[in-house]
Amino acid sequence: MSDRKLRWGLLSTARINRSLIPPLRMSPRNELVAVASRTQEKAEAYAREWNIPVAYGSYEAMLAAPDIDVVYVPLPNNMHEHWTIEAAKAGKHVLCEKPLAISVGEVDAIRAVAERAGVVVSEAFMYRHHPQTLKVKELVDAGVIGQVRLVRGSFSFNLTREGDVRLNPLLGGGSLWDVGCYPVSYARYIIGREPVEVFGRKVVGPTGVDETFTGTLRFPDNIYAQIDCSFRATFRTHVEIVGSEGAISVLHPFKPGTEEHIIISRGDDSERVAIQGPELYLGEVEDMADAVLLGKPPRISLADSRANVAALVALLESAERGQPVRMA
Ligand SMILES: NC(=O)c1ccc[n+]([C@@H]2O[C@H](COP(=O)([O-])OP(=O)(O)OC[C@H]3O[C@@H](n4cnc5c(N)ncnc54)[C@H](OP(=O)(O)O)[C@@H]3O)[C@@H](O)[C@H]2O)c1
Repeated sequence: MSDRKLRWGLLSTARINRSLIPPLRMSPRNELVAVASRTQEKAEAYAREWNIPVAYGSYEAMLAAPDIDVVYVPLPNNMHEHWTIEAAKAGKHVLCEKPLAISVGEVDAIRAVAERAGVVVSEAFMYRHHPQTLKVKELVDAGVIGQVRLVRGSFSFNLTREGDVRLNPLLGGGSLWDVGCYPVSYARYIIGREPVEVFGRKVVGPTGVDETFTGTLRFPDNIYAQIDCSFRATFRTHVEIVGSEGAISVLHPFKPGTEEHIIISRGDDSERVAIQGPELYLGEVEDMADAVLLGKPPRISLADSRANVAALVALLESAERGQPVRMA
């Protein structure tokens, strides 16, 4: 059992694949064996470029292959549910890109099929596996900054690629789904509870998606999170956790590198805490191996993904209605 390697297939030639391919090759418990694309020609060209042994000319063909254990789903957001379910039905474990789905009902449908098929499905929030994230959570839970009052999180960049899937409302585009999902996920993780009310505002671009989004999430005990994201602002990521006795500033919360540091401040004093980590995307690959080969629960559970999707849907609804939305 311990010698077994998970055999992975990439479901499409998405750009993000290039982040997963090196860790799949680095990990002794995982192996990249196939790629699928909507045409055989594209799959073969990609397989040649990235030195992948097998190329499938349709997604269905790869799911029918008996020798694939795990399917990576890096498709446009509106296709995550369908292809995760198809893969699970075919008996494959699935690592699906964030957001896992774009409605709570879709997450529930994924969960039902995954449970029936007895496969692991986990959302690819790579930052959650990095030692920096785990350290920040440990410090907060140990009371290093006292009681948490507020989490602020931002993720913005200038989206310059014309025709990008992120700008297409029919493909689950929009800045909240694409990058706003990170600060929402981070805040929920650190606070350790779920929001009870949210209020969102959006700036809609010419294609009809939110290109900028700001949101306030109220958690039990009047703990707040404030998030912002944008396709029309300079690249920046940041999280600040404000407590009754101090604050933690995380400079690279969502894409931490191998050498990072966070700042803990108390009044005028500040302390720099250095954190080393492995290559960012290795964590989700090893987590899948732990889940499938060792039977450990995946670090990102379907309940966690469901709650994140629920918060994002509520924020979008709030921005649409121009009113706060209470969550159950
Ligand atoms: N975790 C991270 O760091 C991270 C970073 C970037 C993106 N992501 C996520 O990864 C997913 C993909 O993002 P990406 O930027 O890599 O996307 P992308 O380069 O546009 O790739 C999407 C792929 O989906 C396939 N596809 C099937 N139907 C399509 C359609 N109607 N229109 C466009 N493509 C279609 C295409 O592959 P074929 O032509 O080969 O079939 C295409 O290459 C998204 O869910 C995004 O949120 C995560």
